[in-house]
Amino acid sequence: KVEKEEDLDVLQKRIEDYGISTEMLPEGSLPSTGRMLKFSLPSGHEMRLYATKEYVGTEVGTVNPDPWPDGLKGAGVHWLDHCALVCELDPERGINHVADNTKFAQEVLDFYLVEQIVVGPEGSVKAATWLARTSTPHDLAFLGGPQMGLHHIAFFLESWDDLLKAADVMGKHHTKINAGPTRHGVTRGATIYFFDPSGNRNETFAGLGYISQPDRPVTTWTEDKLGYGIFFHSGEVMPSFTEVYT
Ligand SMILES: [Fe+2]
Repeated sequence: KVEKEEDLDVLQKRIEDYGISTEMLPEGSLPSTGRMLKFSLPSGHEMRLYATKEYVGTEVGTVNPDPWPDGLKGAGVHWLDHCALVCELDPERGINHVADNTKFAQEVLDFYLVEQIVVGPEGSVKAATWLARTSTPHDLAFLGGPQMGLHHIAFFLESWDDLLKAADVMGKHHTKINAGPTRHGVTRGATIYFFDPSGNRNETFAGLGYISQPDRPVTTWTEDKLGYGIFFHSGEVMPSFTEVYT
């Protein structure tokens, strides 16, 4: 989401000038949403930017709000936090859509790079990047893989205790858990990965390990330690995490 309607016009020109075609979809193309600027990332993922969305508010309101509403169901996630896209990475064929997307996001969409995993000779290959527009450790992540896809979308929880409760809720409902509860080295977030009924991987992501800023030095994870970057306790990344995505 962008802030103002005018931002869509500015971004449309910047994206077109970068060499990527765009289309402005009329208001209502998506329910409760204003016009949308549609384009594809260098990786091929279709993106849509919008400024206007119907405001429904929250149960606790904006005047003297309680910290949480009564009658919360399930894990009680707070907000949609980030998403991670798998981008084609094949250095031998000269294909690195992680690097291509990262460059585009930084130069055209004003994201800044927060963390990265580098592999190959002298760390010359960007294998994964985490980028932000806000002050959280990431709003968007690009992960290298054999073909483009969706790795996961993540919902925010406040604490490790909330994460354990979320795991209990998943257990009660026989939700297919993929990994966790555990902690990431990258972003320092606490995490559970699980699959929703449609087969897409979701994440509950808890705690903010730090506040990111545009001038904060980029955190780099090297190939020999990348397992700890993903799952900090075991340092092991299993194929069901890297090879299964939608
Ligand atoms: Fe995530």
